[in-house]
Amino acid sequence: MSDKPKSPTEIKRSVREFYDSIGWQMIDEGVYQNARFEDLRPVAQEYIHRAHMRVKRHLKPSGKYLLDAGSGPVQYPEYLTYSEDYQYRVCADISIKALQEARRRLGERGLYVVADVAHLPFASNTFDGVVSLHTIHHLPQEEHLQAYREIYRVLKPGSTAVVVNGQGNPPLTRWLKPLTWVADRIRWRLERLTGRTPAEAEDPAQAALRQKPDWKTAHTFARKYSTAELREMLKPYMDVEILVWRSLSVRVMRSLIHRRLGGRLILRFWFWLEERFPHFFGEKGAYPMVVIRKDTTTPSNRRTP
Ligand SMILES: C[S@@+](CC[C@H](N)C(=O)[O-])C[C@H]1O[C@@H](n2cnc3c(N)ncnc32)[C@H](O)[C@@H]1O
Repeated sequence: MSDKPKSPTEIKRSVREFYDSIGWQMIDEGVYQNARFEDLRPVAQEYIHRAHMRVKRHLKPSGKYLLDAGSGPVQYPEYLTYSEDYQYRVCADISIKALQEARRRLGERGLYVVADVAHLPFASNTFDGVVSLHTIHHLPQEEHLQAYREIYRVLKPGSTAVVVNGQGNPPLTRWLKPLTWVADRIRWRLERLTGRTPAEAEDPAQAALRQKPDWKTAHTFARKYSTAELREMLKPYMDVEILVWRSLSVRVMRSLIHRRLGGRLILRFWFWLEERFPHFFGEKGAYPMVVIRKDTTTPSNRRTP
C-alpha cells in the first residue's frame, strides 16, 4: 500500500481501496486499523478528548444538516457530539466501508453519500455546519484548494466549518526532536534491560496489531501543507483562523509522555498552554485547526467561489 501513484485518479483510487480493505477494518472491538495513527493509551486519553472537543466550540450548536466531509466511520464518541443537536449528519466519504460503519453508529440520524470532497454533490449554501477531519491531506496536492472551496461553497452564510489535518514538518516537532531522540533511546534500553513491556502495549490499537503484522505499517497517500502555505493558498477565497487542535504529534507523545513519568499532569499543563496561546500552537504544532467563517456578505475584494 506504499505505492506512489501519479495521477489524481490513481491517488484517489488507492486511497479508497486502502480504506475499504484495511483502514476501516476492525482490529479490536470498536478499534479500526486506522486508529494506529492515534495515541490511544490511557495516559493520553484526557488530552485527546479535550482536543476533539475543541472542534465543537466553533460549530453552530444546532441546525438541520451538519456535513462531515471524509467522515470515516465517525470513529470516536466525541465526534458524535458535534451533530447531537442537528437533525441530520451528512456523512460523505469515498470509502463505502467507511459509510457502512458510520451507519452502524448513527443509524437514522445520518445520511450517507459516497462523494469526493473536492467535488461535493450538494447545492451551495446548504449546511449549517461542516467538519472535515484528517481527510484533505489524502487528496492530490492540486486538489486541496478545491476541497476547501467546496466546503466553503456548501456552507450556509453565517455558519462555520472546521477543518483539521496534520501540518507538514511542524516546527514544534522539529524543536522537540533532540529530546524525543534521547527519550526513545533511554526507553528502549530500559525496556531491554528490565524486560518491561513496551509502552506501546498500553495502546489497544498497537497491541491488537501484533496479530496483524501486514497491517502494522500499512498506510496510504498523504500530502501535508505548512500553516504558512495553507494561509497563502486560502487567502484570496475565504477568511480563516488557524487555531490549535492538538500541537503534539503522536510520535512525540509516544516518546515523551508516560504514565510513570507524570504524563497525565504534563499533558494537562500542555493543554493549558495551548489554551493560553491557541494561535501560536496552531501555527507551530502538529495539527492546526482551520476555522472557516462564511459571512452573510462577500467582501468586494474577495474572489467569489
Ligand atoms: C484518516 S480518515 C479520517 C476519517 C474521520 N474524519 C476521522 O477523523 O476519523 C480519512 C477519510 O477520508 C476519506 N477520504 C479520502 N479521500 C477522500 C476524498 N477525496 N473524498 C472524500 N473522502 C475521502 C477516506 O476514505 C477516510 O475515510
